[in-house]
Amino acid sequence: MLLFDTIFDMQGQSEKYRSQGRKIGFVPTMGFLHEGHLSLMRIAKEKCDELVVSIFVNPSQFAPNEDFSSYPRNFQRDIQLLEEVGATALFMPTQEMMYPKGYKTWVHVEKLDTKLCGISRPHLFQGVTTVVNKLFNIVRPHIALFGQKDAQQAIIIKKMVVDLNMNIEIVIGQLIRETDGLAMSSRNSYLSEEERRDAVVLYQALQLGKRRLMEAGMGKTKILSEIRQLIEAKPTTRVDYIEMHSAKNLAEIGEHPQGDILIALAVFVGNTRLIDNITVSI
Ligand code: PAF
Repeated sequence: MLLFDTIFDMQGQSEKYRSQGRKIGFVPTMGFLHEGHLSLMRIAKEKCDELVVSIFVNPSQFAPNEDFSSYPRNFQRDIQLLEEVGATALFMPTQEMMYPKGYKTWVHVEKLDTKLCGISRPHLFQGVTTVVNKLFNIVRPHIALFGQKDAQQAIIIKKMVVDLNMNIEIVIGQLIRETDGLAMSSRNSYLSEEERRDAVVLYQALQLGKRRLMEAGMGKTKILSEIRQLIEAKPTTRVDYIEMHSAKNLAEIGEHPQGDILIALAVFVGNTRLIDNITVSI
């Protein structure tokens, strides 16, 4: 695996791949890799000739009171996993390279970035869309892959790519769970034993929501309230939001929705904020 730590060198390698007619698959990450990331990389390997991965803990998507400095990092292990999965290039820029002194340009996707996670984390999506744009300009992928766990991020990035006429195919990989149902996330490493046990309730709550939606009859408000009660029965949890929207574009839905419905939630388990979601087709 080739390792690039300058933008110039990564751009040069991407140009080389393109001039050789090689198809570039790209998985941007913040490192501390788990099966969720690796599953995206395996899809990229199947679809493309080259798999480029970036590891960059992006400061612009964290608010000052959030976990940027404590975000889990283990580059040695990440590199080993990337070698095993067969990545062909790893791009690891520094903060100073990505946001040099005097940096002023931001990308944001109106309306989609101010709901769900955008309410309690107003910095988040502008930081994500800006860094993803920059990474796309550096890596110049044909295909880029993102996980369904960040359902809102996936919808926002797809919209950005269409609106800005980027010639990149966005592939969303399925959400990968631990055997007890907890969605895989680098932030799960923050959980104490008790919190880890309680965290399974997020998955159980989504399953309850799915059952209730499929049964029909019960309205959205009552279903969301049942889900909340189940989560709040655990001693270490505090709900940030639980919402239902159109899974296609996050549009508002009525009391008795039809079509593909996204149930999305963000819950603090102890001090760790976890997100999860499920799509139910009715
Ligand atoms: O999903 C993530 O890990 C991050 O938001 C991303 C897409 C790598 C941008 O920093």
